[in-house]
Amino acid sequence: MTRLTRADLDGLPAYVPGRNLADLTRELGIAEAIKLASNEVPYGPLPGVVEAVTEAMLHSHRYPDMGAVELRGALGERYGVAPDRIVTGCGSVALTEILVKATCLPGDEIVYSWRSFEAYPIISAGAGATSVRVPNTAAHGHDLAAMADAITERTRLVFVCNPNNPTGTSVRTAEIDRFLADVPSDVLVVLDEAYREMVTDPEVPDGISTYADRPNVLVLRTMSKAWGLAGLRMGFLVAQPEVAGAIRKVLTPFSTSLVAQAAAMAALAQEAEVRRRCGLVVAERSRVTEALRKLHVDVPESQANFVWLPLGDQAAAFGAVCEGRGVIVRPFQGDGVRVTIGTPEENDAFLAAAEVALDQIG
Ligand SMILES: Cc1ncc(COP(=O)(O)O)c(C=O)c1O
Repeated sequence: MTRLTRADLDGLPAYVPGRNLADLTRELGIAEAIKLASNEVPYGPLPGVVEAVTEAMLHSHRYPDMGAVELRGALGERYGVAPDRIVTGCGSVALTEILVKATCLPGDEIVYSWRSFEAYPIISAGAGATSVRVPNTAAHGHDLAAMADAITERTRLVFVCNPNNPTGTSVRTAEIDRFLADVPSDVLVVLDEAYREMVTDPEVPDGISTYADRPNVLVLRTMSKAWGLAGLRMGFLVAQPEVAGAIRKVLTPFSTSLVAQAAAMAALAQEAEVRRRCGLVVAERSRVTEALRKLHVDVPESQANFVWLPLGDQAAAFGAVCEGRGVIVRPFQGDGVRVTIGTPEENDAFLAAAEVALDQIG
């Protein structure tokens, strides 16, 4: 404890990133590991990205274009929205932080489903806002009716994580329509669609084309997953111009780096390859889901690039057995384990480890 920082931060959980090979080497002496803990797509940078970043590096002694004008133009064209409605940032998690800053004063409330993306409680508390967690349904998804009921006069924001990290579940158009009809017009609904490119259920809406024209809806997207730019940090949001303009005022200056902008431009030119890779992920998602169900794990249908094993209090033990066999997964003790879909070989290694782990934890 220190008196130099806010006392309320003492009770705040730290963000737990997926563990990596260096952790396993240090702790277990394991020289090689498969990382299925952070929901990246496993096929390497998209063609042209490394070259674009290398070229951008030649100018990296200069500040980037703070307005990311060229990139917002390309994103606007790709997603069919005016560039003034787009804000880019250092990953969508940074944009989440900025939009909480732009909407909430201390004591204001932020409603979200739980369990969901672990950054929500941390970011909310960091801003002095009050988290209102609505328990997931028995099927591990959002209970949108209960979330609407949880809105009070203090609510400024509602996060709808679709598909939901870490459970992979999603909410469909009819449910979201009903929900939005119940949300007061002065509450901002954030559709966090980090895994949108992996959605195959036609009933799960594209938030940008379906809802982003509503005054109180904002859509968050990332280029970390399907677009392969996790290490370069690039996310964006789409909102109404007035909302986007207000958010821009509190944005960290120059936070979309020169290399991130160049990489994103190069990645956007590779959409066919992105679709091909997502197709591979989706096929493997079905295979892994089926295999786990055969092992009697009640895996909910996932629309993302990961699957959820609702193992409750056995989550940590399961994760530890997998790590011992060189497969890093992401346990959330008390709730379950999230496992990223990797290459077919990586998934086979995970399934072999899972069989052993399930046997051991009984
Ligand atoms: C639901 C959700 N939103 C946002 C993010 C953040 O993505 P990034 O900051 O890499 O753009 C993630 C990453 O795991 C996520 O799962």
